[in-house]
Amino acid sequence: MSNVSQERSHSIWMDLGPDIPAPPLRENIECDVVVIGGGVAGLSCAYELTRFGYSTAVIDRGRIGGGMTSRTTAHLASALDDYYSELIRTHDEDTARRYHESQVAAINRIAAICEEEGIDADFARLDGFLIPASPDHQSELAREFDACRRIGVDVEWTDLPPIATPGRSLCFPRQARMHPARYMAGLARCISARGGRLFADTAYVGHEKSGELVLIKTEGGQTIRAAHAVFATNSPVNDKVALHTKQVPFRTYALAGKVPKGSVADALVWDTLEYYHYVRLQPADEAHDWLIVGGEDHRSGEAADMDKRLAAIEAWARERYPSLMQIDYRWSGQVLEPIDFMPFTGRNPGDHNIYVHTGDSGQGITNGVLAGLVIAPLICGQEARFADIVRPDRKPLGVPALSEFASGQAGALKNLAEHLGPSEVESVEEIPAGSGAIMRHGSAKKLAIYKDENGALSVCSALCTHIGCIVHWNPFEKCWDCPCHGSQFSTEGQVLNGPAVNALSRETL
Ligand SMILES: Cc1cc2nc3c(=O)[nH]c(=O)nc-3n(C[C@H](O)[C@H](O)[C@H](O)COP(=O)(O)OP(=O)(O)OC[C@H]3O[C@@H](n4cnc5c(N)ncnc54)[C@H](O)[C@@H]3O)c2cc1C
Ligand code: FES
Repeated sequence: MSNVSQERSHSIWMDLGPDIPAPPLRENIECDVVVIGGGVAGLSCAYELTRFGYSTAVIDRGRIGGGMTSRTTAHLASALDDYYSELIRTHDEDTARRYHESQVAAINRIAAICEEEGIDADFARLDGFLIPASPDHQSELAREFDACRRIGVDVEWTDLPPIATPGRSLCFPRQARMHPARYMAGLARCISARGGRLFADTAYVGHEKSGELVLIKTEGGQTIRAAHAVFATNSPVNDKVALHTKQVPFRTYALAGKVPKGSVADALVWDTLEYYHYVRLQPADEAHDWLIVGGEDHRSGEAADMDKRLAAIEAWARERYPSLMQIDYRWSGQVLEPIDFMPFTGRNPGDHNIYVHTGDSGQGITNGVLAGLVIAPLICGQEARFADIVRPDRKPLGVPALSEFASGQAGALKNLAEHLGPSEVESVEEIPAGSGAIMRHGSAKKLAIYKDENGALSVCSALCTHIGCIVHWNPFEKCWDCPCHGSQFSTEGQVLNGPAVNALSRETL
């Protein structure tokens, strides 16, 4: 079985580890709560639930911790990458104030868990700097400064950010960073120690309600009967449409290389570009830190120039961080951008014992931790402090958010036209070895064809098994990306990332 850990690139965390060993599910089981998805969100929910004394099982279609969290950069920011001024515009000051409090609570929770449970995840508090990408971005910073001050966010102007900038920057104290693989391994250890069970290579394929219980079906045929189910699969696999029309998938890119210790300030840095650069350090050895730099996002499936994008990040980094040594890691991952800048977390609309978390965008680590702080108390019937602002069925969207939503969904509409559009290649001979392309077969069918290094072909339908958009070849990760809602498939058509749960159907030429 598979998840995005099978894509071609490797992040720094995938190499540094540790792995989280877990067997596949081999028999039918019962528990109080089943969590589908073993990333930071699923593990955070399971951790909080086991603390409440609930018997909990976590299943993952691939390696536990091998999803998008293994491809993150793990800035822990209570500053909002989409800006609090935007959140006030789409909601109101009170919502923005409370959302900020939720991000502070999530960072505090990580700090407390590391401390109490003895998890050595290199957690460190540090300043975060929002720097202008160009001199004419000062008004944007001023707007954000005012918004932050109105809702009680601690922020100051500074002329001394860690790198030279074309104007004043904003400094947010008490942001943080951590090592996400070590944090997840720590959570997994604590879950197991409290009797929770973890199952890797165990894909959810469907569920049924059975009286007051939920019956989860897995690809191997085993079932899990539970009083509650939590879907923390990054992109919800339990819902075909509702939540997927409220978020848009983006690929983002990152690289890492060593710098001599002391040559770069230990701070979070990000700029004011729409697809902003983001920078942090990770301790490497006695003499070096890793410098991790990301950016160059694009809508999933809508670019094939990944090498150019990574080269642009490297050029940007070398200009500003001249001590950067060779680049050791280059990778990509996907984030889901919610229509109104906050995640969808809580009771699945229309269900009383099914819960969901998605829509975490560039704040996906803090929002994943927040999922635990919201969903666990909801299940336990206790007060969940932030549940009302992130509830999945919320509708308080202002007109600006709706227009952004409409432009996000334009990609899905454009994709529908691709069903009638021409082939990328007329014959398989045109596909280079080690590459994939979409080819029309007869008048009605489009095929996703991969040719391996030896010339062997893997032929699948190009129709995404979620709701039928045409998948696009990703030459960097060597996988098929669906631009509509973010499903990803291997060269052989296996699901690597939801919302799809079924493989691309195999075809013959
Ligand atoms: C390059 C990059 C940089 C980022 N930087 C930051 C940052 O600095 N700060 C920040 O806060 N966030 C950042 N993010 C976002 C953040 O990392 C993610 O939003 C977050 O890690 C997602 O966690 P998750 O638990 O929701 O998803 P995942 O980690 O993807 O976990 C979901 C799990 O569900 C499993 N699954 C899926 N379908 C099924 C199924 N059918 N059956 C069983 N299991 C299934 C998957 O295999 C996966 O392991 C970044 C993301 C990327 C890619
Ligand atoms: S992810 Fe929805 S159609 Fe592909």
